[in-house]
Amino acid sequence: MNAVQQIIARPEVMQAIVIVGAFTVINFGLKILTNFYKYFLRPSKNLKKLGEWAVITGATDGIGKAYAFKLAKRGLNVVLISRTEAKLNAVKAEIEEKYPSVQVKVVICDYSDFNAKLRTKVEKAVKDLDVGVLVNNVGVSYQFPKYFSELNEEEVAGLMEMNVNSTTWMTHMVLPGMMERKRGAVVNIASAAGCHTMPLLAQYSAAKGYIAMFSRGLASECAKSNVTVSCQVPFYVATKLAKMRAAFTVPTPNQFADMALKWVGHGGDVVVHPFWLHAIMGWFIESIPSSLADGQMLSMHASIRKRGLKKMAKLAKGE
Ligand SMILES: NC(=O)c1ccc[n+]([C@@H]2O[C@H](COP(=O)([O-])OP(=O)(O)OC[C@H]3O[C@@H](n4cnc5c(N)ncnc54)[C@H](OP(=O)(O)O)[C@@H]3O)[C@@H](O)[C@H]2O)c1
Repeated sequence: MNAVQQIIARPEVMQAIVIVGAFTVINFGLKILTNFYKYFLRPSKNLKKLGEWAVITGATDGIGKAYAFKLAKRGLNVVLISRTEAKLNAVKAEIEEKYPSVQVKVVICDYSDFNAKLRTKVEKAVKDLDVGVLVNNVGVSYQFPKYFSELNEEEVAGLMEMNVNSTTWMTHMVLPGMMERKRGAVVNIASAAGCHTMPLLAQYSAAKGYIAMFSRGLASECAKSNVTVSCQVPFYVATKLAKMRAAFTVPTPNQFADMALKWVGHGGDVVVHPFWLHAIMGWFIESIPSSLADGQMLSMHASIRKRGLKKMAKLAKGE
């Protein structure tokens, strides 16, 4: 027997190993059971109890549109905010036709420059409403993965304005009313990109990371006021922004919103992957050595970048 084997063979060391092992297995088992309950069995909150209205940014497409329909289905009146008037009116008409008892307001706002004048306009539209749910959904990513040094000024400014400023200012507008009424839920749509190292999507990932940290601090600040703040962090969802078709790990916006809504109004977990498969993907990435995960991410994004550059070159030649 060598020295290590001799130490392990001592009864008190064996006992310690068994206790630590049992603790780890029980802890892991409890985590799985708790998550199973939260993802599949826990009843949804009655969101009407939080307030009469829901405000959704980026509400004419993708995740935001799906959220607006689900909230209207739950009986909340909805304020849809986006930049394209025709699309806003079309979504308004669709919701009114499907849910005739629900009121729908639209606000035209281009979040790529959410300046003081626009903020006043949006504030006027929402300030007298009993807002129970705010979904900060609007956001923008890169056209395709790029080195940060390749982004132009407009792209750099847009990433901050659309992801960071929109979420921060909208929350600043709506949260005081919720805290006064002592009810409400702020839902910030960030991204799994904000939870992991994302070479070639560095600024997008950092902007979403800001939202996650902002949500965590706010959630703690607001808990006493009975207002929940959460940050939902999907991997890919089949939308225009993602440029992806639905697949096993890529839900449609509708599927995503169904799962996402189950988390709204529940305190406790602040940063969540609402889609269970995304939670497993997140856990897997966190479990492998970061040097391996970062390297894989870099080579995956580098190959998407190559394809993106080729496509751009073809477009420039008019092919
Ligand atoms: N899809 C994914 O795989 C994925 C993954 C992680 C996180 N997310 C996040 O989820 C959120 C929603 O993304 P999505 O995939 O649903 O996007 P999407 O399908 O492209 O929809 C974007 C929505 O935002 C609106 N919008 C775009 N630019 C705007 C601007 N400048 N001002 C105001 N509204 C604007 C669009 O309105 P118009 O119709 O007028 O363009 C549309 O309603 C984003 O924050 C994104 O970062 C998405």
